[in-house]
Amino acid sequence: MTPIPPPDRSNNIPGLAVVIGGTGGIGAALVAGLQAQGFEVLALGRRTEPALDYADEPTVAACALQVADRLAQIGLPLQRLIVATGFLHGETLSGQQAEPERSWQHLNAAALQHNFLINAIGPALVMRHFLPLLPKQGRCVAAFLSARVGSIGDNALGGWYAYRASKAALNQLVHTSAIELARRNKEALCVVLHPGTVDTALSQPFAKTGLQVRPAGEAASDLLAVIDALPAGSSGQFFDHKGLAIPW
Ligand SMILES: NC(=O)c1ccc[n+]([C@@H]2O[C@H](COP(=O)([O-])OP(=O)(O)OC[C@H]3O[C@@H](n4cnc5c(N)ncnc54)[C@H](OP(=O)(O)O)[C@@H]3O)[C@@H](O)[C@H]2O)c1
Repeated sequence: MTPIPPPDRSNNIPGLAVVIGGTGGIGAALVAGLQAQGFEVLALGRRTEPALDYADEPTVAACALQVADRLAQIGLPLQRLIVATGFLHGETLSGQQAEPERSWQHLNAAALQHNFLINAIGPALVMRHFLPLLPKQGRCVAAFLSARVGSIGDNALGGWYAYRASKAALNQLVHTSAIELARRNKEALCVVLHPGTVDTALSQPFAKTGLQVRPAGEAASDLLAVIDALPAGSSGQFFDHKGLAIPW
């Protein structure tokens, strides 16, 4: 694993930051933003070395072991764990094309399974293998990117069944892991974040005229500002890129 060093290594490095999905549109911008903040950043994804693929569970455990080794080597805490993976459309594991459903008529097992694998099961495996690497004392943040459309309370439009349901499952997983994390470290924060509508491969087919699509760099700097400002007691909650709470 090749760690990406911060720009000036003579500065005090605040700690290590890991971005899972650091090769995606928002993930890559988060990597750049965290480097600018002075963190040593490790980006993990299917195309990194080592590779992390949710369809291959042992790769998640193997990457966590390498991160643990790096933490021991540098003697600094894991201060940021950001999960920026996600799936809305594209090829499923079984080779079918999946699109967000406009009607229950379009519900399809392969697409549902793939959405749940990437949006909920994969991040759950990250919880299992990476949350134990967070320090046992002091402020640290684990942030999982979800989507406002995963909110049941906010769902007035319908459609997008698999994406909405898998993000709702992710939200419950994060809320549950935040409760467990607080037993290990009362200052640790584990939250769900909505990045807004961002110009990436994930949103590209759905960007309509008039829809406000922001550059990934802007979204990343908003998300990092929200992460830095999370108050004590906000663990287990769901926030947008402005730091405003979203209903479950
Ligand atoms: N863009 C938006 O408007 C928007 C809006 C609301 C919420 N979000 C959420 O924000 C997050 C980031 O989205 P994005 O727009 O940056 O999407 P993106 O550019 O499509 O990135 C998706 C990421 O997921 C990773 N991924 C996909 N399948 C994987 C697998 N099997 N194993 C491991 N990683 C896998 C991709 O890795 P590879 O690089 O290896 O393909 C990539 O890093 C997602 O959770 C998304 O739901 C985005």
